[in-house]
Amino acid sequence: MVKKSHKTIYSCQTCGYQAPKWMGKCPDCGAWDAFVEERSSVAFSRRSASTISGPPTAPVPIDCIELDMELRLLTRIQEFDRVLGGGLVPGTLVLIGGDPGIGKSTLMLQVLFGLADQGHKVLYVSGEESNRQIRLRSKRLNTVSPNILVVSEVEVAAIMSMIETTQPKVIVVDSIQTMFNADLTSAPGSVSQVREATVQLMLMAKKSEIPTLLVGHVTKDGAIAGPKLLEHMVDTVLYFEGDRNHIFRILRAVKNRFGSTNEIGVFEMKDSGLDEVANPSAVFLSERPAGAPPKEPRWRLLRRRKRVRVPERSPQRWQPMGRSSGATRGARASAIKRHAGVCAERTGRPCARDDLRIHAFAPDARGR
Ligand SMILES: Nc1ncnc2c1ncn2[C@@H]1O[C@H](COP(=O)(O)OP(=O)(O)OP(=O)(O)O)[C@@H](O)[C@H]1O
Ligand SMILES: [Mg+2]
Ligand SMILES: [Zn+2]
Repeated sequence: MVKKSHKTIYSCQTCGYQAPKWMGKCPDCGAWDAFVEERSSVAFSRRSASTISGPPTAPVPIDCIELDMELRLLTRIQEFDRVLGGGLVPGTLVLIGGDPGIGKSTLMLQVLFGLADQGHKVLYVSGEESNRQIRLRSKRLNTVSPNILVVSEVEVAAIMSMIETTQPKVIVVDSIQTMFNADLTSAPGSVSQVREATVQLMLMAKKSEIPTLLVGHVTKDGAIAGPKLLEHMVDTVLYFEGDRNHIFRILRAVKNRFGSTNEIGVFEMKDSGLDEVANPSAVFLSERPAGAPPKEPRWRLLRRRKRVRVPERSPQRWQPMGRSSGATRGARASAIKRHAGVCAERTGRPCARDDLRIHAFAPDARGR
């Protein structure tokens, strides 16, 4: 029997760093005034881990592991499958981040429909919309199928038992920030809640081999809210972005344990949902009269609006995720990766971060 003990901890709401005392500045990410008091039940994580994952598993020789689990599930949304590295790997946990209203829920419904249409039973858990609202959206997108089970729920424990009884082929949780664990006293969206919900969903996904897609909100800084530690926990991190007034949307992987991060998927947002753009360069480089100087491609306009900028934080915040070379220091890793992805797409040749020269300005210093 584990005795449940409560203690007060302080978590940085930017990076998830925990400390026994309140601190003005986070020693990990350098954020100021980001610590929030949270009551944690220490025994909970261990208890929940053992109940969800079942009895402890023993190590096995690597050559004895069955490989039929490598079969990937195709969603029939080719741009999505490609960015994933060729479909969904069993038991994979994918985080899809994006600005409000960019089309995350739309993409998820279309992906689920692609699977449901092949006869797979799938589960869409929404903490943000009612069943009726989801049905209405589905009607507009033409993604209604008896194989899509929909539930409006935020309690992680309830979701777990639903998964056990329905045994879906794929799960979408929209969004991870709305998920709530009654054993924790902090509010939904706080670092502890988001982390606990993700841990439980991760254990479930790994154990049951059900691919699980988590929708994540993005903060003003462009990071997935409730933070970097989420990105470490999941197998794949996708960003869905584009100017909200612009019809194009770009899906790209910033982390992928089962595929390259050089692929991008391009979609066009219509009333009827997201349409795949199979040949982006034709779209972005069209309408150029013969002999005229090359028109600025739209992807550059997209990028310029998003700005390659230096967030005014401590240096470790804005260094690229990998090593930091002189050429890339100061620029956001995500911007560089997107740039590299688009260059590769346009030239048909792989383009690494080191092939690019990126000049980044602090937004304030240039008045932009
Ligand atoms: N007829 C329509 N009704 C509603 N939305 C439409 C319609 N046509 C196109 N859209 C697009 O759908 C977008 C909303 O998509 P969606 O709700 O999937 O985004 P989201 O990323 O899930 O947003 P949130 O962060 O609020 O959950 C709108 O911003 C708009 O661009
Ligand atoms: Mg949504
Ligand atoms: Zn921090």
